[in-house]
Amino acid sequence: MSFTNCYEDTARAESYAKLEFPGTYYLAFRDLPQIIARYVKGGIAMDFGCGAGRSTRFTKNLGFEIIGVDISTEMITAAKRIDPIGDYRIVKEGILDYFEDNSFDLIQSIFTFDNVPTEKLKIQLFSEFRRILKKGGIMINLVSSQELYVNDWASFTTTCFANNFKAKCGDRVYTIMKDVEDQRPVEDELWPDINYKRVYSKAGLALIETYKPLGYEYEPIEWVNETRIAPWSIYVLTKK
Ligand SMILES: C[S@@+](CC[C@H](N)C(=O)[O-])C[C@H]1O[C@@H](n2cnc3c(N)ncnc32)[C@H](O)[C@@H]1O
Repeated sequence: MSFTNCYEDTARAESYAKLEFPGTYYLAFRDLPQIIARYVKGGIAMDFGCGAGRSTRFTKNLGFEIIGVDISTEMITAAKRIDPIGDYRIVKEGILDYFEDNSFDLIQSIFTFDNVPTEKLKIQLFSEFRRILKKGGIMINLVSSQELYVNDWASFTTTCFANNFKAKCGDRVYTIMKDVEDQRPVEDELWPDINYKRVYSKAGLALIETYKPLGYEYEPIEWVNETRIAPWSIYVLTKK
């Protein structure tokens, strides 16, 4: 089944460009400063799948010199409009050969791999990340957990999609984002934890740590399932 990157769409890009860190998204970004401070030495970074630049600006504000790259012209256009002095570049699918070996202290990819189809393309990209990471450099891959697609959340509706409950690795799964105007379903590819670990191993990356952040009752957000089920997986990787 062919896969459409729903972010190559002006209405979706404009809608996503207004998104900051509400609800379940807060939980994705809450622990990142500590995770980055713990593992990353040096200040040169790439944000792979930067979208409209939300994640790029987040890490830039931590003091990094960061390049945002994305396959979607619509998203890069929005990123440049919001941050005109930022470095945002369009890349072709699976191609990072423009970047030299051993260039980055940190490569982050935040929600991107939910939308990257096939094991082959994932291995190709993670092998490229390995090549362009400096020795001792860190890759942070933040993705939706398998559980995201079969539970409802402060920021997402998913349980209305019956096929989500039957989905296996590589199948299409759907969510509706509650925090944006564009209410069309977002199509992702289900890629469970065990399959990510296989991709990392084949690409020559070692998994240092997996974080599964949970919400706390005292946080000023109306959590739905976030205090007991982790919606996100954050993988910290380095070169083998
Ligand atoms: C859900 S958005 C996340 C954007 C951003 N990281 C954030 O947190 O706001 C996912 C982005 O990944 C991009 N993407 C999908 N496949 C890609 C690929 N093969 N190469 C580069 N970017 C890709 C999409 O175009 C989209 O902008």
